[in-house]
Amino acid sequence: TRAGGPAGASPFAAQPVAAQALAPIVTPFRTAMPIPPVARPVSVTSTTDTYSIPVTQTTAEIIPGVRTPVLTYGGSFPGPTIKARSGRRVVVKQPNRITTGTSMHLHGAVVDPANDGGPMDLITPGGQRTYTYPNPQVAATLWYHDHAHHMEAEHVYRGMSGFYLISDDNEDALPLPRGTYDVPIVVRDIGLNPDGTLFFDHNFDTRPQILVNGKPQPYFQVAARKYRLRILNGSNQRPFEFRLSDGGEFTQIASDRGLLPAPYTTTTLPLSPAERADIVVDFSRYPVGSSVVLENAYFPEPSNKEILRFDVVRSAYDPSSVPARLATLPPTAAPTQTRNYTLDFDVQTGAGSISGKTWDEQRVDTTVRQGDTEVWEIKNTHPFIPHNFHIHLVDFRILDIDGKPPTPGDAGLKDTVRIGPGETARILVHFDFPYSGRYYYHCHLIDHSSMGMMANLEITR
Ligand code: C2O
Ligand code: CU
Repeated sequence: TRAGGPAGASPFAAQPVAAQALAPIVTPFRTAMPIPPVARPVSVTSTTDTYSIPVTQTTAEIIPGVRTPVLTYGGSFPGPTIKARSGRRVVVKQPNRITTGTSMHLHGAVVDPANDGGPMDLITPGGQRTYTYPNPQVAATLWYHDHAHHMEAEHVYRGMSGFYLISDDNEDALPLPRGTYDVPIVVRDIGLNPDGTLFFDHNFDTRPQILVNGKPQPYFQVAARKYRLRILNGSNQRPFEFRLSDGGEFTQIASDRGLLPAPYTTTTLPLSPAERADIVVDFSRYPVGSSVVLENAYFPEPSNKEILRFDVVRSAYDPSSVPARLATLPPTAAPTQTRNYTLDFDVQTGAGSISGKTWDEQRVDTTVRQGDTEVWEIKNTHPFIPHNFHIHLVDFRILDIDGKPPTPGDAGLKDTVRIGPGETARILVHFDFPYSGRYYYHCHLIDHSSMGMMANLEITR
């Protein structure tokens, strides 16, 4: 069980006893931050890029000199980055070479139910299937991850996730940092047993060791110029609040589902699991030879406050800039109805539910008509455990959280919303996508969804 506690106390203060046995502490900043490999298509036609990305079991050198068994997409930890183009088809052929059923979900994708990677739509061990993504959506930082019901938390934890970056003409026309100055960064936590294997338990809320692109608290050598950093919280359950160690400003330019209308200059970036944000950091304000650290301000422990050290190692010409206008968001429509949900979590059993019901494949929990706009009001009933809320297929706007409007960083297109202990979020959802059928909504602290905090959404025509 966990410590409750007054506001301001860490919800993670009391870990299960086993946590103390984990070998958490790796001296930070010993390893260079890798960039996940970019997936190479096996075939390219005028309309389609086809990839072959098997699910495999292998080992990764997370801690220098130690081989840790992991589950991967295509053999890398984290998985390869898929670069997609708005309006151009991506096909992923996926043999499952591990011993459990898998289901790949492209988080944030506008896709039909058959290719959405549903929790029971499994690739059996030894089997194979093909996922087809038409990408009828704007430039955005998406990610793919496993969604096999009740296994997704463990599968993702052991390595089954990767970036999926969609570009488009609007973004291309902007003078943002690009090429090697446009860097995907997935931050997540793990727990390591003394023998170097990954410790996994559904009831284990956060793990002590932070990884960035699969390495423990690495350094990243940068030029004294602007970088676009696409940050994903790839943790199972750990929320982050990112800041720079000097308190310096950065500029958020995108959230989950694409560019913000205008840049948002800030000093903090909160991201719960599965949320993404693209930020531009201008390292030209730091002298060559100096460093600045990306830190976590969300109830950090001493071992995981420092996440990533940027070492400014050279000067560079910088033709990039962040324009005052980035994108035009689609217009919003008036909602036709409001629905209410509660996120309920039983700390004793680890069972999760939505509005009192644990996930059941057979049940239809919510039926919406394609084309409708609705307000969904979601309450986190727990006094100290954070949740969040993700809906497949759609994007949405955050109206308010406990009556407070979102920051500009959270006011763009979202697909996952943080809902802190006791908070209620209201979101405006447009079901105006050309697909119907079975989708899902759930908490994206994936041990919670794995344990039933998930429900079925039926979109009808
Ligand atoms: Cu990223 Cu249903 O999940
Ligand atoms: Cu949750």
